[in-house]
Amino acid sequence: MEQDKKISSSGKSAELYEQALTLMPGGCSRNTVLRDPHPLYADFAEGAYVTDIEGIKRIDFANNMASLIHGHAHPQVVAAVTAQLHRGTAFTLATESEVRYAEHLCSRNAGFERIRFVNSGTEAVMSCLKAARAFTGRSKIAKVEGAYHGLYDYAEISQTAGPSNWGEQDMPSSVPVAHGTPESVLNEVVVIPFNDPERALAILEQHGKELACVLVDLLPHRVGLIPASDVFMTTLRKWTQDNGALLILDEVITFRGGYGGAQDHYEMQPDLTAMGKMIGGGFPVGALAGRKEVMEVMNPLQDKVLFPHSGTFSANPVTMVAGLTAMSLFDQDALTRLNALNDQVRNQISEAIRIAQVPACVTGGGSMFRVHMKPEPPKNYRGAYADAAEVKVRTAILDHVFDNGIMMINTCSGTLSTAMTNKEIDILTEVLLEGFRKFKPLFADL
Ligand SMILES: Cc1ncc(COP(=O)(O)O)c(C=O)c1O
Repeated sequence: MEQDKKISSSGKSAELYEQALTLMPGGCSRNTVLRDPHPLYADFAEGAYVTDIEGIKRIDFANNMASLIHGHAHPQVVAAVTAQLHRGTAFTLATESEVRYAEHLCSRNAGFERIRFVNSGTEAVMSCLKAARAFTGRSKIAKVEGAYHGLYDYAEISQTAGPSNWGEQDMPSSVPVAHGTPESVLNEVVVIPFNDPERALAILEQHGKELACVLVDLLPHRVGLIPASDVFMTTLRKWTQDNGALLILDEVITFRGGYGGAQDHYEMQPDLTAMGKMIGGGFPVGALAGRKEVMEVMNPLQDKVLFPHSGTFSANPVTMVAGLTAMSLFDQDALTRLNALNDQVRNQISEAIRIAQVPACVTGGGSMFRVHMKPEPPKNYRGAYADAAEVKVRTAILDHVFDNGIMMINTCSGTLSTAMTNKEIDILTEVLLEGFRKFKPLFADL
């Protein structure tokens, strides 16, 4: 008999959430897990499938927000981590595992002359920004409107900007995310529009020699999951070089797009790259890598350390062996197959949209895709911004997908894992087609 996959308002997850609400604000430690009427609690997972504590199994296109490149519980990662667990999990000593993993990641990208590990993408971006400030002696940073780079005060500016506060297209406002963000932080962050080299240049020019760096994600999820154009990136590269600022790429998600990161597909090279998510092999991680001269600001062996940098769990051996195992398995063949599977999923979803004749479209790159309830792919954050009517259609489609045994990211995005095959792609596109047909009347309100 077909399982009923709808979220019930009673049952084990509902009970757990009731207790969780008495313990944590909102009943959780990450808002991403919230669902209406309550979050679901995972029991176990294997490959491309997750089973919740109600016993319902779903295909996982969320992959812990793009961090699980091989899906769940890959046997070789499990074996490597289990062996390490028996030997200890964290020491006040260095471990060989750190050196081996640093060697592997640096071998993937010629621009990674030096690397350091941290514990999250937030920390990796923060460390890059601090390294840029230490290297240049300047305090301001520039970032793309709407782009998500984690929780660091400076990096999160403008991430949730909306029509009421985002200002002119020629001069996007520095909009805080957290209440109480110091005014001084807003003054230190210059916001540029995505893929708009002329406007971006005009804005950067006004801050000339005050900027320590420009921070860019090559396929920013919140900005619409559209690739940065070559001309945008070469313009930023040239401007930063001409003005003594650094170019920092946030490849926390996009590193999965190429063997040495999505930057492999561009002519330019950044000064620093922030990484995270998949390079942890399923464990908490972050890393920053790049030019030796810049990374030296963290070198404690120098007389004057410009940027003292440390972390209790940084480069812990569990993450190091999990990461090394996962990334060694993610070789050029695995990457080529996964990116081709993503071309296929985007083609199939486009076909479903065509058959259902709804004004939707699909964007993406590497091994990620995003469905927009808009007739044309957006060009930037303002174009990708979903108003209330669009959110209503999107939520209906996402709930339909979820009730039919598929997990996606709540922007109607998905990421692939090497555990996936045509089978999972076919199921997704079939369920999406049903959803487009079922909720077609809602599209009329857009
Ligand atoms: C592009 C990007 N940068 C940074 C981060 C922050 O990473 P973390 O959640 O590991 O702190 C994220 C997380 O989603 C991200 O997508």
